[in-house]
Amino acid sequence: RNRSIGRAHSKLILIGEHAVVYGQPAIALPFPTLTVTCAVEEIDTGIYIESNLYAGPIEQIPERLKGLATCIRATLQEINKHYKGFLLKIDSKIPIGRGLGSSAAIAVAIVRSLYQFFKCDLSGSKLRELVTIAETYAHGNPSGIDMESVVQDEPIWFEREKGIESVTIQSPFYLVVADTGRAGDTRSAVASIKENIDKSPLETNQSIDKIGQYTYEARQALLQGNLNQLGNLLNLAQTELDKLGVSDKGINHLVDVARSAGAFGAKLTGGGRGGCIIALAENNVQAKEICQHLNQNGAVSTWSFKVEETQKY
Ligand code: MEV
Repeated sequence: RNRSIGRAHSKLILIGEHAVVYGQPAIALPFPTLTVTCAVEEIDTGIYIESNLYAGPIEQIPERLKGLATCIRATLQEINKHYKGFLLKIDSKIPIGRGLGSSAAIAVAIVRSLYQFFKCDLSGSKLRELVTIAETYAHGNPSGIDMESVVQDEPIWFEREKGIESVTIQSPFYLVVADTGRAGDTRSAVASIKENIDKSPLETNQSIDKIGQYTYEARQALLQGNLNQLGNLLNLAQTELDKLGVSDKGINHLVDVARSAGAFGAKLTGGGRGGCIIALAENNVQAKEICQHLNQNGAVSTWSFKVEETQKY
């Protein structure tokens, strides 16, 4: 039987989450360790999904996954070719609600698999258009950074409505990712900041502006290969995220553990209020040691990986 597979990797926001919703820049990286695949098989009738989130016909998909159903239908309509039915087998290694872009990555893998099945060319802009359908449903007011960073294979500088630029990484470093084990709700975290803007605009906008400023400085630190400075900036951004109310006790605890274990800096990544933290390390030995401390002090999973220097031309 005809079968096609679409893939996508997860992502990490290095710095700039939440402020990016309000037009500030953010820097995101592909996180190649955790990926999702979608295998499409033609069946006699109907559209069925098989995944660890839901298994069954598309008509009965639970409310919180409706965006995916809409995205699948829009994709098939766009491709506009005859079919009998489909089984979409989604296999995601990306824990959901951890700020790693699982929802965007699943949608990207689905759209890619369907285009591949029909052997149709998929332009970058069409992919984004279709994935945005799912993302808007999942997040309410997404800046687009999640989608962009799961599509790209390189670190990106992202500004809402301006698109992306490349980021130069002068010298390699290691990132540790640690999972609090609790799912955060990006949609409500984003909404809570909107409420803060209405209630205390001065303070809230000040934090947003500061995060933007730290992001510009982080780009410079990456360009100069200055890990000390980059670590400081991650810590400063974490302070502002905490003030904005999107950090929590569990996150702050893991951030402290990572710093005590020698990280150059640590902060939440993604929507916050649960989810994951990232910590900056110089080399693999240090990264492993930070992982070990985090594992012994409350993290349910840890990963570490090398962020390579960008290609020099
Ligand atoms: C979520 O990964 C990033 C946020 O800034 C939301 C968004 O930009 O859509 C929290």
